[in-house]
Amino acid sequence: MSSMWGNVVRIQIFGESHGGGIGVVMDGMPSGEAIDLDELQAFMARRAPGQGAYSTARKEADAPEILSGLLDGHTTGAPLAALIRNADTRSKDYSAMRWLPRPGHADYTAEVRYNGAQDTRGGGHFSGRLTAPLCVAGGIAKQILARHGIFVGAHLLSVGSVWECEYNHIGLTADELLKAGKNAFPVLDEEAGRRMLEEIETARTIGDSVGGRIEAAAIGVPAGWGDPMFGGVENRIASLMFGIPAIRGIEFGYGMGAAELRGSEHNDAFITDENGNICTKTNNHGGILGGITSGMPIIVKVSVKPTPSIVKEQDTVNMQTHENAKLSVPGRHDPCIAPRAVPVVEAALAIALLDLWMEFK
Ligand SMILES: Cc1cc2nc3c(=O)[nH]c(=O)nc-3n(C[C@H](O)[C@H](O)[C@H](O)COP(=O)(O)O)c2cc1C
Repeated sequence: MSSMWGNVVRIQIFGESHGGGIGVVMDGMPSGEAIDLDELQAFMARRAPGQGAYSTARKEADAPEILSGLLDGHTTGAPLAALIRNADTRSKDYSAMRWLPRPGHADYTAEVRYNGAQDTRGGGHFSGRLTAPLCVAGGIAKQILARHGIFVGAHLLSVGSVWECEYNHIGLTADELLKAGKNAFPVLDEEAGRRMLEEIETARTIGDSVGGRIEAAAIGVPAGWGDPMFGGVENRIASLMFGIPAIRGIEFGYGMGAAELRGSEHNDAFITDENGNICTKTNNHGGILGGITSGMPIIVKVSVKPTPSIVKEQDTVNMQTHENAKLSVPGRHDPCIAPRAVPVVEAALAIALLDLWMEFK
């Protein structure tokens, strides 16, 4: 098992949901970058559970202890290690279902892959809890990038059948980009948010769950970062996004919809802006052409599946006896993962961009 990522800024995530703690080591860091730990904590709070009816009641302060790589509020350039100690774990919620794999979760595949040696408590290393250290790394990356004029944000685009408007893909401002992150529920439009919450509540009351989509963007990224083929910026962002449990799909710019357009509709015509810079009139390419940034806002959308653990009874099989069984998952699970995954998606995008910044700045 290996949970490492990166070309220049390499991150390694460790820990299990109900073990002693979880954390991240960031290797290849720039030196002399100021990190505001209160701002980092505020970012972490956006992911933490226990925020409302849509979120699990499990209380996790998610306060990272920075063990190395930071001195007097600045990065030293040495590997930055952060630890979050686990608290409020209820492993007995899981021991009763040790041999009953949850449909939609990693229980069955992990059992086969690791021959039963994996930590099964609370989903172990497969748990959504491992996105907390990802947010530590992403929160740090966001602060460094912002100081250098690169801003990263995200919002909840849909829950079930309820949608809100997309970002402005051309003249996206930092205010619009960062707006949802300042709201208790991470949307741009309050009314759409109210209807999304209703959708989540409806799923919860019937013991079910619901999925959603997240739109993330970055502005201030100059043209010319990346490589073609396997080193493309899309590849690098996508590999981090798929490191987030429950992400099922990703689109850049106009994404899958491009298949229905003509070239004349999908192509983004080049123009020179009022400052003499080359840009495009539209942004269907989502800021990336040939794996290389164009200087236009980077636009990424991901789909988040409905929470696998649901109270509603489902069919499963006892992995010891191979007998058919029924499973209703008790415990504290979000009826919708997507709202809490919004800062996680921001974190993933920021980590990818910090790695690119170190390589191409
Ligand atoms: C922030 C976050 C919270 C999550 N919370 C839960 C949860 O409470 N219950 C659950 O069954 N899955 C939860 N998941 C999803 C599972 O971890 C994930 O579906 C599982 O590990 C299988 O991985 P896959 O969906 O990527 O295939 C969460 C994911 C994230 C990102």
